[in-house]
Order: sequence, then structure tokens, then C-alpha cells
Amino acid sequence: MMVVSYQKVEELGVITINNPPVNALSQSVRQGLVDALQQAGRDDTKAVVLICEGRTFIAGADISEFGKPPLEPSLPEVNAAIEACPKPVIAALHGTALGGGFEVALSCDYRCALASAQVGLPEVNLGLLPGAGGTQRLPRLIGPEAALEMITSGQRVGSAKASALGLIDRILAEPLAENALAYARELVAKGAGVRRVRDLQVAGEGFGEAEFAEWRTRLAKRKRGQKAPQRIVDCVETALSKPFEQGLAFERAQFVECVQSEQSAALRHIFFAEREAARVPGLDKSVMPRSVARVGIIGAGTMGGGIAMCFANAGIPVTLVEQNQEGLDRGLGLIRKNYEITVSKGKLTGPAAQERQKLISGSTDYADVGDVDLVIEAVFESMDVKKQVFAELDEHCKPGAILATNTSYLDINEIAASVSRPADVVGLHFFSPANVMRLLEVVRTDQVADDVLATAMALGKRIGKVPVLAGVCFGFIGNRMLRQYAREAQLCLIEGGTPEQIDSALTGFGMAMGPLAVSDLAGLDISYKARQALTQEQKGDPRSYCIADALVEMGRLGQKSGAGYYRYDPKTRARESDPEVVAVVEAQAAQQGITRRTLSDQEILDRHLLALVNEGFRILEEGVALRPGDIDVVYVNGYGFPSYQGGPMFYASQLGLEQVSQRLEALHQQTGEAYWQPAPLLQQLVRDGQTLADWAG
Ligand code: 3HC
Ligand code: NAI
Repeated sequence: MMVVSYQKVEELGVITINNPPVNALSQSVRQGLVDALQQAGRDDTKAVVLICEGRTFIAGADISEFGKPPLEPSLPEVNAAIEACPKPVIAALHGTALGGGFEVALSCDYRCALASAQVGLPEVNLGLLPGAGGTQRLPRLIGPEAALEMITSGQRVGSAKASALGLIDRILAEPLAENALAYARELVAKGAGVRRVRDLQVAGEGFGEAEFAEWRTRLAKRKRGQKAPQRIVDCVETALSKPFEQGLAFERAQFVECVQSEQSAALRHIFFAEREAARVPGLDKSVMPRSVARVGIIGAGTMGGGIAMCFANAGIPVTLVEQNQEGLDRGLGLIRKNYEITVSKGKLTGPAAQERQKLISGSTDYADVGDVDLVIEAVFESMDVKKQVFAELDEHCKPGAILATNTSYLDINEIAASVSRPADVVGLHFFSPANVMRLLEVVRTDQVADDVLATAMALGKRIGKVPVLAGVCFGFIGNRMLRQYAREAQLCLIEGGTPEQIDSALTGFGMAMGPLAVSDLAGLDISYKARQALTQEQKGDPRSYCIADALVEMGRLGQKSGAGYYRYDPKTRARESDPEVVAVVEAQAAQQGITRRTLSDQEILDRHLLALVNEGFRILEEGVALRPGDIDVVYVNGYGFPSYQGGPMFYASQLGLEQVSQRLEALHQQTGEAYWQPAPLLQQLVRDGQTLADWAG
């Protein structure tokens, strides 16, 4: 198959790219473009149209080529060939023209696009910067401020806005090919010649050193720990201060450095792992997902309300069922308030929010979910309550309806076994706030039907989530690992750390929040209550919860009570250290017979990360997670693990499994706890000299 073809259509040359699925700029496409441009330059055509087959214009460089030796011609060479073409080149955009794809379009003389098209430079999301002139051409077209906004956010811009900004010259109706050719003929007819972006002056008046410094400071906060955003500012600054060719060379050097960075390797790993996670091995492709047109949700609390919003946001009608009218009113009121906040932040228009709210109806009668295609139960975390709800669902729901639970920890096999149709039962574990967090754990029960699993995975994607398959166990993938991490926070605290030291060791690594600040946010009473239901043995080592228990018993429930591991300003919610906490910690340490010592930040970080990693290996070995990348996707999308560190298993791979095993063994020796013994799978991989990439499950 020819990935790039060239055709003469009367006075026009038409270059067509056909490299499914997203027309990425693989080596063969780059070479094909250079060849086609040469041909077009030589023949008697008057203008050249560049267009793509399939679902989209070029979606960027071929990410799978990064990290390998570069192949000629490079993308900057392709763009130079476009600019060297003696005839005007017109890019015709549809779908998403992203990254290198949009840079190709920026190298053309004119850009036309369907109204549905989007353009963007999302390289920053991969730890990169636009490396084919994007940082030099964009400021020339739209000025430094708008260019910085677009490149550092990585966000896409729709045709209408792109046209208002001056990125697109003409918005076209479908069919694209026919109308793009007509536009090209119009340009030829009026003698519109070559018009290169590179020849424009950057309109940078009033934008100088101070403004660039402000951007650097802002990005140091907004994209904490990330290198590429800072390099982007350097490049845009260079676009203002240096001639085009020098700017290009500077940009290329920065790009090459970013491609070789660990941050970019980590982000690329997450990009592919998220897509891989959607695939369920062994699930026959011929299995058709069930149709989901209406959804029921039981329980309109924190989670039920958020989940309802997820579906309404995707245009799927929802019926929310509560125990009584009061609970229902409270739940619907909370949803209304959430939409109002979204509107007030300018993220949604008022009418759009109303449309979505109209899709959510309430009821106190199970009969109202009788004809829905999927029900998600989100009631209290109690096996008895859940079984009662499932008995109602079993009685009222139509045959073929999928019965899902949002439980965090409970045994879903037991829930499934309590109904007459266990094959229809699955776990759909959302994360709080459910309308915001991207992760969805799809929990596979023993008897679940293949088409139920296929539906759950597809539905996750449809509502904008990243679905990851997990097996049944206490806490599934994410919460099971989180327990080990939270345990470490408690132990580091009692052994000598302070809340500030522990939290900042983790935020320094890039975690969105430290573990103790997270507890304060979630409320210390939640895990306290959960612990009360456990036996002494299930609760584990008292050192890992005695401080938390003491704080709750003092009425320190976290942010909601104004104090937890920290004290909170009632008005601003600003956090401060609290000597009272130190006193509690010291008293508990004395009670447990612990002599507190100074812990280094490195020890704190190591212990938290190694606790996650070791549990990750156990989870893999048991088949609770299918692949190391799935664990990474869970941690990055559900637990604030920095995407530029690639997730816990990627982190372990970068460290080297032998190193990980040695550090765990050292902790094992130091503490005498069997807990720290390297997981059997880890030991086996080290023994066999294998990496996680070698491991096939
Ligand atoms: N390179 C290689 N493969 C790519 C790719 C790319 N740029 N973009 C997408 N793919 C692959 C995906 O891995 C996936 O493969 P799979 O089917 O084997 O899993 C397939 O194309 C379809 O992708 P999605 O499942 O993501 O499809 P969607 O329709 O949901 O989304 C998309 C399409 C919006 C184009 C999305 O894939 C995307 O955002 N792609 C990345 C875009 C990007 O980051 N571009 C910049 C690249 S860096 C660059 O250009 C550097 C330059 O400045 C020099
Ligand atoms: P919540 O207490 O905020 O809400 C539960 C709601 O269910 C309440 O409004 C209650 O009135 C209602 N309810 C109870 N019994 C009912 C019944 N028989 N019929 C109809 N409604 C009933 O609890 P939350 O936090 O929303 O948790 C719900 C479930 O989601 C639990 O299983 C929890 O483990 C899980 N979960 C919670 C997360 C969180 O961060 N809060 C995250 C992920 C899962």
C-alpha cells in the first residue's frame, strides 16, 4: 500500500496520505511527502493540496519511533521541502491535526478545515515540545501569548476558534476533498501565491523578559517537576529574539534533549499503556458489547451523584434511585451545585449544563430502573446492604441488564452469587470525584459473561474514562496498593517523621498531594469506621493505625473539622503544622515502645514507593492486574502518581529490578518484617535476569 500518493487533478497537484489509523508521520510517510513535493514542484500544476484519508489529518509524529535511532528524512526536512515548493501548498484538515501533523499544516501556505476539525500541539503531554517548527511558526501567526497558551497546555482548538486566531484560513463544509480543491482553484484564480509563515514577523510588542519570566513561574506551579514546559518558553522566547533558522535549530536541540529524557519515556509509556489497558486478552473480537442507552444508579451520595454526571456528560440518560425523598433531594441538589460551579468556572455554558441535568431523573422506586440497560450500585459499603440492593435489582431489572457495583473493597463474587444472574454482574469502580477522575477499574468476577466485560470496557471509553481490568481481591488494584502506601506514611510518622516532611518527600517526587494531606481531605473518620468493622488480625500492625485512631478520637477528622494531621484556617482552608499532632505522635510512639529517630527524605520516599512496587508485583503474580502497564495507568489516573514518572512499575523498571529487590531486602533485614520480603515474582525475574518487559503474565 502506498502511504503517500500524488495525483494531478487538472491544474492542481493532490498529495494524499493514507497511513491508518491516524496518519502518523512514520518514516515512509515523511519520505513519501518529500518525493511527492518534488514531483509537484516539477510538473505544470499551479497549486498543491495536502489531504488525508481515513478518520483524521496527520495526528503527529509516529510516537513509536521515538527512543530509536532517527530515520531520514526528518520532519523538519519535510517541512523545509513544503516551504521550498515554488507553488502554494494548501493543507486540508479534518479530524485532529496534532503535533507534527499540525506543524506540517503550519508549514503550508494556506490551511482550510472542516468545521469539526481540531488542531493542537499536544507534545507537552508526552514530555516533549513541538520539534518541527511549531514553537517558531505559531508565535509568528498568533503572537507569543496565545502560542504559549496553546503549546504549554497541549489543548486542542476547534476550527472556529482556530480560524478566529488566524490558524485556519477557510472553514469548509463536507465533502472535504471536493471543497478543498475548489478552495485551491479559487486561490489560483485570484493569483494568491506562496505565503510562508516563516517570513512573518512575530507580533511581540509588549511581551518581553518579564512576561516570559512570569510564564516560567506559572508553569513551575502548573506543571510542577516537568522539564518540557520550561523548554517551550525558551523556544518561544527564541522565536522573538532570533532569526527563523536559528530559532529552528534551537528548537530542534531542545526537542532532541526532551525525546531522550526519562520524563518523555515515562509519558510515552503511559500513552501506550492506556491504550493497551483497553484490550482484554482472550476476549474474542467477535463478542459484541451489549447496547447501553439508559443507565440506573442506586445511591445518590458522593459517588452516585458523580457517576450520574459522567453519564449525563456523555449524553446518556440516568435514573438515580435513593432510599427516600430527602436523600434524593440532597443528591440531586449536589449535582445541581456541581454543574453551577462548572458553569461559573466558564467550563460549560448554562444551557449546556441544563441539558445535561435534564438527563438525570430521580426516583425512590426500583421499578423505575426496570428497563435500563445497566445499573450501578453505589450505596453504603456494607455487604448486607449491597446484597439487599442486588436482590431488588434481580427482581426488577429486565433480562440482559448489566448489574454493576461501585464497591471499593467488597467481594464482588459473593455479591454475584447472591443473584439469579451472576454472569451479568461486574465491578465498575469509579474514583472520587467520579465526574473528574479518569480511572475506571472494571472488576472481573468469576462468572461474568464476556459480552458484559466487553460492554464495560467500551462504555468506560465512551464516557471518557480510562478503563483498566482488575481481578477480585480486597481493594482490587489501586486500593490494595494504597493500603501499603498509607501504612508506610503511618510508620514513617511514628518512627520519627513529621506530616510536613512525609508529605513533602512525596510531593517532591511529583505526587499531586502527600499521603497525610490526602487523608485530611478524604476525612480520617472514613478509614476509622472501616477499621472498626475489621478483626484485630485484619487491622494488622497497631503502629500502622494508632495515630490515626487517636486523632479521630480527639475529633480531628481532617479538613472538614478544621484539623487532622494539620490545622486548617476555617476561611481559606490554608494548611499549617500543628504541634498538637507532634504530641499525639510522640505519645503513641512511647506507647508502642518506639524510640523516634531522624528519617531522611530519601528513606521516606523509598519506603513509600517500594511498598507500592512490592504489592504491584504480588498483584501481577496473582493476575489481579494483567500487565505492569495497567498498574501504572491505575496509579497515574486514580492516585495522583506523576505521569512523568510513568507509574510505580515503570519506576521500578527504570531503577532496575535487581536494585529494587536489594532495597527491599535491606528493609527486610532492617525491620525483620516478612512484609518487606521481595515478592516472589520479583525474586524470580531477578534470578532469571529478566525485566518486566520480558514478563508475559
Ligand atoms: N504515533 C503512533 N501511534 C499513534 C499516534 C502517534 N502519534 N497517535 C495514535 N496512535 C495509535 C494509538 O496508539 C492507537 O493504536 P492501537 O489501536 O494499536 O492502540 C491508535 O493510533 C488509535 O489511537 P487512539 O486509540 O488514541 O484513538 P482515538 O481516536 O481515541 O484518538 C488521537 C486519536 C486524538 C489522534 C489520539 O490517538 C492522540 O491523541 N494521539 C497522539 C497525538 C499526539 O500526541 N501527537 C503528537 C506526537 S509528538 C510529535 O508530533 C512531535 C513533533 O512535534 C516532532
Ligand atoms: P455515601 O454515603 O456518600 O452515599 C451512599 C448513598 O447510598 C447515600 O446517599 C444513601 O442514602 C444511599 N443508600 C444507602 N442504601 C440505599 C438503598 N438501599 N437504596 C438506595 N440508596 C441507598 O457513600 P459513597 O462515598 O458515595 O460510597 C458509595 C459506594 O462507593 C461505597 O461502596 C464506597 O465504598 C464506594 N466508593 C467510594 C469512594 C469514595 O471516595 N467515597 C470511591 C470509590 C468507591
